[in-house]
Parts: sequence; structure tokens; C-alpha cells
Amino acid sequence: MSMNTEFILSEARRVLSANRQEGVSRWNGKRFSFVCPSLSSYPFQWFWDSAFHAIALMHLNADLAKQELQCLLQAAQPDGFIPHMVLWQEQHQRAAEAEFKITLAHPYFTATTQPPVLARAIECVFETTRDFAWLEEVLGPTVCFFKWLQTIRDPDNDFLIAIVQPDESGVDVSPKFDALLGIDYRRPDTVYSAWHSGMDRLFAIYRDSRTESRKLLQLDAFNYEDVMFNSIYADGLLRLAGLLRTAQYPEAEAAEFELWSARTRDALIRKCWDEQRSAFWDLSGSDEQPQKILTSSCLFPLILKGMDSNIVRRLVNEHLLNEAEFWLPFPIPSVAANEPSFDPAFVTRAIFRGPSWVNINWYLYWGLRQYGYDDIGGELVTRTLNMIERGGMCECFDPYTAEGFGAADFGWTALIIDLIEAERNRISKPQKSTHWCIETLPGGRRGDRFRRVRKADTPLLARCTAPRSSASWAGRLEGHSRGTNEKGLNCASAR
Ligand code: GLC
Repeated sequence: MSMNTEFILSEARRVLSANRQEGVSRWNGKRFSFVCPSLSSYPFQWFWDSAFHAIALMHLNADLAKQELQCLLQAAQPDGFIPHMVLWQEQHQRAAEAEFKITLAHPYFTATTQPPVLARAIECVFETTRDFAWLEEVLGPTVCFFKWLQTIRDPDNDFLIAIVQPDESGVDVSPKFDALLGIDYRRPDTVYSAWHSGMDRLFAIYRDSRTESRKLLQLDAFNYEDVMFNSIYADGLLRLAGLLRTAQYPEAEAAEFELWSARTRDALIRKCWDEQRSAFWDLSGSDEQPQKILTSSCLFPLILKGMDSNIVRRLVNEHLLNEAEFWLPFPIPSVAANEPSFDPAFVTRAIFRGPSWVNINWYLYWGLRQYGYDDIGGELVTRTLNMIERGGMCECFDPYTAEGFGAADFGWTALIIDLIEAERNRISKPQKSTHWCIETLPGGRRGDRFRRVRKADTPLLARCTAPRSSASWAGRLEGHSRGTNEKGLNCASAR
């Protein structure tokens, strides 16, 4: 890992502490205490951000991690809904409405939701604290939220949840929504304003139904089965099943969650997997049109347990490690580098159109680990660390230069703490796992060179530092180490 690991850890701690918001809300007299994503751009509580913050906080202060989620769950509604923004502080309400395209369900919270990272965060916090009373408290509203998704957001009963507007995906301005919102990526200077106009048109269609999710989907103006959302959802259902058993809920309820998780995973494979292109596509509209834009979402089923091993291998070999797509100097870019809409340098000033994000890397890291790609996961952490070292604790990063973009001192970039700890544990307690190594395939046009992964017969034995002049991107990174096993195959490694 980088020489500056300790510095990055202290930076992450500083941001988590500086971004803390505390007080008593005039809304309901409730106390709030949470980490906001950014003091300047996002001083409110956000749904999936808080889940990521709790995971990072776990390594610093378990009480604050528990409190982060408890604070969020104070905004859970009686029907199960959890909003994507909670405006605890009255003084920020006007700015929030002006700045963000949001429909408020209530003066203090929005009418849309976000990917349900919550279950994963609860599992992370509980695994360390073993606090059963806290688990009991947070499980109730979380279970209700997952049931709300099932009953309200899956009107065609295909086990895939539909979102009603781009913000619900968490990747708001991703080019995967361009066609739906009328955005022309060939005019980068107009992308951001076109997105706003597209959102205005969508909200105009929604005007009379505003907060009634069920009706919004019937309008079919934005009825979108998103692969990343559904992967996070299926992963969450499975984690909840385990937590329900631990908390001694009725076995039938736990088993039901497990079954729903498997059904969602299978629906992703049946309906979204493209055998020819080796990618999972989002489905749009009631006629479920695949949206064939290659973004990091297309790789997300990698986070799911029980994935077909052939699919996993193809996602990793053909996309994740493809240097013409996702395996850039500072991966994982939010959009594949060979997509025409790819905007690595944030020229459009619109998010999730090319730069790399630490929350995406966090999920994919754990997905890789789950399938035994430990060395690739290690390499991903090394590069993420180097990226933050160069770009600072920013919101997102240029995947070629690591220049930081968006908000400075951004909350979930602190997930690097969990990644560093995970790598330290892996290295200090090596587990008997399948050993995979990265091979660069010879030949081909420069941009087409890509890597594939193969199972190494022997564990990594030796290590050497790649020459700075190495043609491979990895070789150009400071602090990067590469190794060979005894058969002389190149292995990327963070060890
Ligand atoms: C942006 C992101 C969203 C995130 C929010 C706060 O709107 O698209 O995913 O939750 O910022 O960080």
C-alpha cells in the first residue's frame, strides 16, 4: 500500500469529524447527529451516504456509527418509505429545493429514495458491536423499507425494483439516462442544463401524483429497473435474512427474505444479462427496453452471492480488467472509457459520467474478494489509495490523472478506511483462497489491449517493482508493486 496510508487515514477521519451535523430539528423536536456528505454542497442527511458513513465510522467510533443509522431511521415513514434526503436543519431547506431537482413529500424530506445500502451497513456495524438491542431497534424500520420496495416498486412482480427518477439510482446524471431525459452527450456544455430541463419535464408529468409512487410508475414516464439498485437490494435482502435469524425473528420471515434475494438475482440474470456482450443492462419502461450503455452498474451483480461463476469470470475478464473500458490507472470509472459519452475530466460538470467514485470501488472490492479475486481487489485498493493521495478527499476523480472533482472533503470517500483495514486483515491473516492473477494479453491495437484473469496454480512467491517506463498503466503508479509467481506470470498485488 502507499507510503502515505496513515496520512489518508487521518484525512478520512478529519472529514468524518468535520462534516458532523448536530442539533434538534424544529420539524419534530428530534435530535439529529449525522455526517453530511459535504459542508458546502450537501449539508443534509442523505440515505445511502449515511450507510457508507456508518461503515467508515465503524473503524473510528462504534457509537457514532450506530447513531448515524438511528438518526436516519428517525425519518422512516409509517408505510416503510425512507427518503433520500432528510432536511433536519430548517435553514437549509430553501437552498436544497433551489439547488436540487427534488420533490418534497414533506417540508423536511424528499419523495424519492436511494439504493438500500442500509442493510449492508447494519450488518457491518452489528458484526463488530454485537449490540443486540441496537439491532432490534434498526431492524424494524429496515425490514419495513424492504417490504415497501417489494410492494410498491415492483408492480410487474418480476422481482426487480423500479425507480421513478434518476436520483433514486444514486448516479443522477449518468449517461444511461440520456435518452430518457433528452440529453445530447455530443454537446458537453449543454449536458447539465439539458439534465435540468429533462428533470423539469419529468416532474411536470408527475405533478398531480407527486408522492404516490404506485401511480408514478403507472405513468411509465420513468419506470426503470436499474441493475445497481437491484444488486444492492438483493444483497441487502440476503444480509437481512441473516440478521433476522440472529435477532430471532420467525424463521419463515428470514427464509422469505432469502428467497426474494435469490429471485432478484435470478431475475437479473434472466432479464438483464446479455450473453453476447457479457454485461447486465438496466431495463427501461413497461416494455423493459435494455439500456445498452456500459457503466459501472453493469458490473454490479458481482457483489451478489451465488452468481454463476461463468458470468463472474466474464464480468471480471472482459470488462473490469479491460484497459479499454474500466481498468484505467485509477479505476473504476463510472462509465466505460470506450463509451462515446465518457467524460473522465468532468468537462460536463455533471456527475457519474466518467470519473471514479470510492463507493463504487468499495462494493466491487468486496464482490471481487467474495469470488477469490483477492489480488485484483488488493490492486484496486492500492490504486484507490493513490487516487485519494493525489486528488484529496474529493467527491470523484479523473480515472487517468486522479484529479479530484466535485465537493471537497466528501463523506463517503472515507470508505477508504474500510478498504485499508480489509487489506491489512487479508494480508496479516491470509486465507486459503483461489489465487487469481492478471495476465496482459499480447498484441492487438493499443487501445484494445486488455487483461484477463487466470487461476494461478501456485501462490504468489516473489515481488518486484515494475520499472517506471513500463508500458502498463499499473507500472506507472507510485507505490505499486507487481509480482510473479513461480511460473513467471505477472500478478498485480498490493502486498
Ligand atoms: C449526489 C449523488 C448522490 C449522493 C448525493 C450526496 O446527488 O448523485 O448519489 O447521495 O450527491 O452525496
